[in-house]
Amino acid sequence: MQRYAVFGNPIAHSQSPFIHGQFAAQTGQLLTYEALLAPLDDFAGSLQAFFAAGGGGANVTVPFKEQAFALADELSERARRAGAVNTLIRLEDGRIRGDNTDGAGLVNDLLQQGVQLAGQRILLLGAGGAVRGVLEPLLAQQPAEVCIANRTVEKAEQLAREFADLGPVVACGYDWIDAPADLIINGTSASLQGELPPLAPSLVKSGHTTCYDMMYGKNTTAFNHWAENLGAARTLDGLGMLVGQAAEAFYLWTGQRPDSGPVMQALRHTLAGA
Ligand code: ATR
Repeated sequence: MQRYAVFGNPIAHSQSPFIHGQFAAQTGQLLTYEALLAPLDDFAGSLQAFFAAGGGGANVTVPFKEQAFALADELSERARRAGAVNTLIRLEDGRIRGDNTDGAGLVNDLLQQGVQLAGQRILLLGAGGAVRGVLEPLLAQQPAEVCIANRTVEKAEQLAREFADLGPVVACGYDWIDAPADLIINGTSASLQGELPPLAPSLVKSGHTTCYDMMYGKNTTAFNHWAENLGAARTLDGLGMLVGQAAEAFYLWTGQRPDSGPVMQALRHTLAGA
């Protein structure tokens, strides 16, 4: 039986074992998937032991994604661009390939929920690891423009320069922008503290703009609450991205594309009761 795992610290509350267990049941794959706590000072050792014992692949979460990037024997283009790895695959020759499925998870979720990306004006909030990870797959959808807005403008400018060869991407500060966007994606970690970047209300065109928060929780996130109050056409949270990145990793390991819908429903139900 093939063995998979997610590495993180902390890891106890990871939903990944549940998600991959459901995917395996759906597709009839015989596999195990466990959550493994790696010590903060020895992620490399934990990973090596896992693969030496026959592990077939692993997910990597906070705070080890950059270390996984450095440890992989080879990288996908999207992982190289992201500067971080959330999925490791053991190749037939024993080498370890690093990939990053976070951006594909976001894009697949948006497309599955019927959100148009091609030709759209997209405002991306934040310029940290979360935003870096989604830029390549987002630009591949051929939006009219992606504007990266960040508190520290230099970080947004740096990202825009790095990704400029992939499509129309520009950088700005929060106080420079007030024209409505078709889609606003919150990739800041402000929601973790229940905070919001200082956004002009005119960014949301009532009945038109879709807002997506990469965060999720039991209650509506601060960003989605802000968007709803301004009459956003739709608000979506990052639960779909979580399941989507897992579905993409499952596909890389098994060649099977699972159905995210029922798994999302089950997770939403669990969250509501939490
Ligand atoms: P992650 O890997 O989750 O992206 P990160 O690399 O620490 O985490 O990046 C956090 C992002 O959230 C950054 O864009 C940060 O803005 P700065 O680069 O200016 O620090 C943004 N952020 C965090 N708290 C914020 C807040 N209260 N208001 C606005 N932006 C915030």
